[in-house]
Amino acid sequence: MAIEIVATGRYLPTRRVTNDDLAKTIDTNDEWIRSHTGIGSRHYAEPEQATSDLAYEAAMNALENFAPGKAAETALTLDLVIVATSSPDYYGFPAVACIVQDRLGATNAGAFDVSAACTGFVYALDAAAGMLAFGNRKRALVIGSDVLSKITNWDDRGTCVLFGDAAGAAIIERTDAPSTGAGKRGLIHSVLHAQGSGAQELKCERGGTRNPYKDGETLEKATHLYMNGRAVYNFAVKAFTDVMQELLDLEGITMERVKKIIPHQANERIVQAAAKRFGLPEDKFFMNIEKYANTSAATIPVALDEYAHTGDLKKGDIIMTVGFGGGLTYGGNLIVW
Ligand code: COA
Repeated sequence: MAIEIVATGRYLPTRRVTNDDLAKTIDTNDEWIRSHTGIGSRHYAEPEQATSDLAYEAAMNALENFAPGKAAETALTLDLVIVATSSPDYYGFPAVACIVQDRLGATNAGAFDVSAACTGFVYALDAAAGMLAFGNRKRALVIGSDVLSKITNWDDRGTCVLFGDAAGAAIIERTDAPSTGAGKRGLIHSVLHAQGSGAQELKCERGGTRNPYKDGETLEKATHLYMNGRAVYNFAVKAFTDVMQELLDLEGITMERVKKIIPHQANERIVQAAAKRFGLPEDKFFMNIEKYANTSAATIPVALDEYAHTGDLKKGDIIMTVGFGGGLTYGGNLIVW
């Protein structure tokens, strides 16, 4: 029995905003953003688009890629819909996954959200795989979707230029392929970690039960995303390389056996630092941060879908995902395609 990714999909909102566009209203410039992060542009959701709208589009794209013209039929075969997000349509409930489940007509599926910030897809993929390994469940839809532009503090130039909106999706399935030995397929290892002591370094301070809205309050900066960039940067470089090494050790292989690394992309420099530490060429990593910026839980599934469509990824290739983000969380998956 193996847990295999059988289709992927993505959705980027149509509104594309370059660094020069941002510089018209924010005290920033293309040179600073590119040299400090590698970001050139990002996509933003429209005012009427919420996280579930992006998630739905990515899910439909994955369903179409799985069986063209049969999205509705395939949706009925789903046993689980899981959405990784940190910018849900509604605080607490209903889950984004329930809204997506309804729109897809996936009436046979259970649905819930995973809150692990930018590591969300890594966590959700492993949760789904574990749940498919037991009981009668066979097929799951795992989505990473975030609209951070709606919780961005536009007065903080150190964070507002870093993020974009997007959703990515994967359909995973329990198959008869072997999960060990020669010819093994699918998700073979995951490592999931948290360093809750860093919870305050990346957060939305207001609106939850710790610090609820006050009567009469509407918007204020504290409802928006706060990040201690330097602290998160230092955490990320170590977390990133630790996860890479851990996944290699679990499988007993060296990096030569890994075809591509699909990293969370918060800052090109973090990936460059990891490449340097492992002595790897930068093209070992599939990068799209220049086009999309940091799209939080969507980054890894969007990159995975883009990479899968390049034609470079063949059956039997080993790929690795590596994520890190708020929580602080970090982790990765090792997958035989
Ligand atoms: N445009 C122009 N200048 C900017 C700017 C912007 N958008 N943002 C910050 N600056 C300025 C600062 O004001 C500061 O100026 P000063 O030296 O005159 O005070 C200078 O640039 C350096 O700021 P600093 O915050 O020290 O930059 P940095 O080199 O640490 O880079 C980040 C900032 C956010 C790019 C970096 O810390 C980072 O990538 N952190 C991790 C982010 C991350 O991984 N987040 C997501 C986790 S999922």
